[in-house]
Amino acid sequence: METGEKEDNDNPLDETGGKKKKKKKKKKKKATAGNDCDGDEDDVKGENETSEANDEGEGEGDCDIGGEGSSSTKKKKKKKKKNGAGGNVPKTKAHCRGVDGFTDYYVALGQTEPPTIPIENLFQPGSFPKGEIQEHPGDFNRYRVTSEEKRAQERMQEDIYDKVRAAAECQRQVRHWAQSYIKPGIKLIDMCEALENKNRELVAEKGTTQGIGFPTGCSLNHVAAHYTPNPGDDTVLKHSDVMKIDFGTQIDGRIIDTAFTVHFDPQFDKLAEAARMATEEGIRTIGVDVRLCDVGAAIQEVMESYECTIDGKTFPVKCVRNLNGHSMAPYVIHAGKSVPIVKGGDATKMEEGEFYAIETFGSTGRGHVTEDLDCSHYMKNFHAPHVPLRMPRAKKLLSHINKTYNTLAFCRRWLERDDGGSFHLHGQKGRQEKYLGALKNLCDVGIVVPYPPLVDIKGSYVAQYEHTVLLKPTCKEVLSRGNDY
Ligand code: CO
Ligand code: CO
Repeated sequence: METGEKEDNDNPLDETGGKKKKKKKKKKKKATAGNDCDGDEDDVKGENETSEANDEGEGEGDCDIGGEGSSSTKKKKKKKKKNGAGGNVPKTKAHCRGVDGFTDYYVALGQTEPPTIPIENLFQPGSFPKGEIQEHPGDFNRYRVTSEEKRAQERMQEDIYDKVRAAAECQRQVRHWAQSYIKPGIKLIDMCEALENKNRELVAEKGTTQGIGFPTGCSLNHVAAHYTPNPGDDTVLKHSDVMKIDFGTQIDGRIIDTAFTVHFDPQFDKLAEAARMATEEGIRTIGVDVRLCDVGAAIQEVMESYECTIDGKTFPVKCVRNLNGHSMAPYVIHAGKSVPIVKGGDATKMEEGEFYAIETFGSTGRGHVTEDLDCSHYMKNFHAPHVPLRMPRAKKLLSHINKTYNTLAFCRRWLERDDGGSFHLHGQKGRQEKYLGALKNLCDVGIVVPYPPLVDIKGSYVAQYEHTVLLKPTCKEVLSRGNDY
């Protein structure tokens, strides 16, 4: 309770903000009467810290977003059962708005709190938790549900499914844990390092075979994507910020790529909800033989039905038209197909077996991003040209990149870690010294590509949600689904 009040006091909007929150909550409670939001809050039995978190959660009423529709009812039922099985498990809820769920979901799976057991030790091979199953849309896909042939094809892929489910479970546990400690006042560089270290721990990092999928994005406000702190960046998260946490876990190069929006001020609820619902619409509309342009049009329709009032001024929520979802392949975050989030896109069709990261960005600004600010994200060009390198430092850095990241994205922060990005490969002797000139050289010759932050206009706010979905022969599986989003 004290922590919560102290936080609120940091915020000049505290008084009115707090009162508004309470009022809103009451209204919501009525609207969602009968679901177990209230129950969850009532049977809280935690120690100091956990009950604090819950109290805060109650004031924020974050049972609301996404709390409609049959799939979420199902989820809630499941959650109740797990709570029952877990007994008196302390429940830690997010401090931020924009996500649901408690960390007790992984405690019920046998995980510790905080989580420390690698996911591979938590389940038997072949039994990693499945994602949410949805049917492929369209009458032309109906036969898939019962087709014996499609089922047989699926059985042959089970080993791959099991791997990506393990990566998804790791991602889910890491993000639930992160949601329980992300609060105003946290230094972003500390937040990212803690999240990434937990990711390494739970995935049991083994160089490029299993590890982090890409640098942890924590883009703030008008920055939409590709921001993570560089060494020396002292940015602190504020109560008034809108932050997109976008991070990934990979096993055998199969990347789980998901994102959610963290905010504390209720005036951003609508913006976050717009992106969340637009992403859900994207997930609902994708499928085998669905045209990419149709997905974009459906997403835009949902996103742009929202508006958001900030400091008394109302903004239409716009899709960021030059950001996309994307297909993924082993060790390739963008495998060639883009999933637009506005109409008028490419008529190329999605295909069976493809992995997609479905992500949408809603903005109160122009709905268009440009490159700006200090670059932190880099990735080897998958079709890297063969160029002789003259600089010995560039040769050395390239060899480190090849060994440690292959064609996965990396950031400057990782190059400066003692382990250089992989304890498994380098122990504490992986740190890259004086690498900036070498990195620039690798970029200049086209072997490495820089991905600078992407920003909308100053003063605007961008929200994002993202899930990884697999188009299987009989159905689609939303691998990264959790009870948070
Ligand atoms: Co992402
Ligand atoms: Co993505």
